[in-house]
Amino acid sequence: GVDISQLRAKTGLITLDPGFGNTGACQSGVTFIDGDQGILRYRGLPIEQLAEHSTFVETAWLLINGKLPNKAELDQFSKRLTKHAPLHEGFKNHFEGFPLNAPPMAILSAMINTLSSSSCDGKLHEDDIDDLSAKLMSKVRTIAAYSYRRSLGLPFIYPDPKLRYVANFLHMMFSMPYEQHIASQEVVDALNLILMLHADHEQNCSTSTVRVVGSSKANLYASCAAGVGALWGPLHGGANVAVLEMLEAIHEGGMSAAEALALAKDKQSGFKLMGFGHRVYKNFDPRALILKRAADRVLGRLGVQDPLLDVARKLEELALIDPYFVERKLYPNVDFYSGIIMRAMGIPTSMFTVIFAIGRMPGWIAHWKEQNHDRASRIARPRQIYIGPKEQVYTPMDQR
Ligand code: ACO
Repeated sequence: GVDISQLRAKTGLITLDPGFGNTGACQSGVTFIDGDQGILRYRGLPIEQLAEHSTFVETAWLLINGKLPNKAELDQFSKRLTKHAPLHEGFKNHFEGFPLNAPPMAILSAMINTLSSSSCDGKLHEDDIDDLSAKLMSKVRTIAAYSYRRSLGLPFIYPDPKLRYVANFLHMMFSMPYEQHIASQEVVDALNLILMLHADHEQNCSTSTVRVVGSSKANLYASCAAGVGALWGPLHGGANVAVLEMLEAIHEGGMSAAEALALAKDKQSGFKLMGFGHRVYKNFDPRALILKRAADRVLGRLGVQDPLLDVARKLEELALIDPYFVERKLYPNVDFYSGIIMRAMGIPTSMFTVIFAIGRMPGWIAHWKEQNHDRASRIARPRQIYIGPKEQVYTPMDQR
């Protein structure tokens, strides 16, 4: 019966919760996580069932619209994705302006903002949200592929309207005739799975960022461009790059897995076991279990012998019985295996976090939309506990 806001106004009470570990910022019906039991559900559907039966595009529609699409709805969404795949020719000028070694995440974020300069007036058009979502999801894929081509100084490859979402992305990246590639379906399926497993994860750092930006009524594209920035960091989406770099460093440096583990336990070393630990999962990350199995299957099918996978397996094996990791409930997260699969598929490390961003786009859209519908939503405006100097007197320049 206590009205917290009135109490706060009276007492000036502020809860200090660094990293918002225990602060609920909204009510949401998109994704359910039980971190103790390792449960993840999108709109009530267990991630294991979606991984077995669904595709990334269908799952995206589910997240954005709250139910599985019927055939007509899915067909219409697919048509919209195809229609929106090309970028305006004028966009090529923007790509030309980036240095060849520009990080693809920087290009992605900038280009999503560029999209908002040409096609989004800052308002939510309820009638258009399906089209707006399809446009963003589709163009992001083309931008990602172009940023990769640009980094190699290679010509852009136009999207092929005959190809579906994932195959079209691989086509624009590599120009390989994926339909004829011996392992094409395996590669397409694996990327579908990776994108789907990344599609949403409730109030993570980047989704919270999208919500914070969107809470000011900023448009969908501006909000999602900010999400890309948040995702980039190595403690979040950038961890998939950090995992690969760590595995390479361990392998090339001739370090044993036990030595790497000892280093990660030493707080002075500044070294963390990348791909381990999670703010919410304190048992296991169900996405990591699915990807671990997929990694074995894909590498086997593609005939890839990757010594880094052996390093990864050894690290996991030792960490699972090491008291430091067991006591702190540090288990492999989704990024631990996704990088190994993408590497086996020939996707360069620089693109890993970009692919995560493509996958997370439906989640960001779903949360932005949900927030716009939520009458209880207010502009995000955390408070602070001030610890700076008390009032001071301005000192003229010649007396400092
Ligand atoms: N290696 C070694 N020690 C670790 C690790 C790790 N990967 N992760 C956490 N710890 C330790 C911390 O030092 C801390 O120890 P202490 O209790 O002795 O001080 C304890 O475990 C708890 O960790 P916190 O940092 O408080 O956990 P938090 O919830 O703040 O951070 C995070 C979670 C960022 C994921 C962290 O575990 C981490 O940095 N992991 C490596 C990076 C990574 O894989 N990120 C991907 C996250 S998943 C995703 O974004 C898709």
